[in-house]
Amino acid sequence: MAELTLFVEASAEAVAARAESLVVQALQRRGATLTLAGGSTPRALYRRLAGAPIDWSTVTVLFGDERVVPRGDPVSNAAMAAEALLDHVAPRAVHRIETERGAEEAAQRYGDLVETMALDLVLLGMGRDGHTASLFPGGAEGRASVVITESPTAPPTRVSLSRPTLERADTILVLVTGADKAARFAAVWPEVTGPAEEAQAPAARVRPRRRWWWVVDEAAAAELPAAARAQGDP
Ligand code: 6PG
Repeated sequence: MAELTLFVEASAEAVAARAESLVVQALQRRGATLTLAGGSTPRALYRRLAGAPIDWSTVTVLFGDERVVPRGDPVSNAAMAAEALLDHVAPRAVHRIETERGAEEAAQRYGDLVETMALDLVLLGMGRDGHTASLFPGGAEGRASVVITESPTAPPTRVSLSRPTLERADTILVLVTGADKAARFAAVWPEVTGPAEEAQAPAARVRPRRRWWWVVDEAAAAELPAAARAQGDP
């Protein structure tokens, strides 16, 4: 089982600061891959990473999932990452999920690519339903490297690294902030600390090989019993 650590921070900005320090630590190894999460939570972290002490010339950037929308569409994860981070640094390589090719071809091509790569640090978020990347409760986790999923939240069609692929990660860092996540996080955390086979929420099922970092704010942890916090105290 990976080494599980829960960081509970005072605010969303403190989450971004803690996550920045963890990312800098994880990217010390030259030639590392960094897999980015989508959604809105990581934006504050990405903005900090744009000025962090990281040698981006040795970092290869991947994406955990992408919405199937036209290239450059502001709701795409690549557009958010570009605005907050990638337009401000010069990574060794950035590999987008090319959804403009259509979901099937994008998934096939990305799967062929990621199969050749080690996943050193994977960033993930958690939705209010417990989803992560574009792996939704009850949805197919997939055996291939990349799966196409139908999301209950728009835009519907997404291309996502599969659970088996995400679990090749050396380290997974999960970011959860906001009171709207509190109920779900309190329900998911016991699954995270419990056996993988009993976990229901995708965010609790996707487990890395070595380090599993959860960085949450007090608002998201508000319904977590104090005793539960101890499971994963740094
Ligand atoms: C996406 C993400 C998704 C996200 C969660 C949390 O494409 O939306 O991959 O898994 O991490 O939905 O989103 P927020 O950070 O916006 O709450």
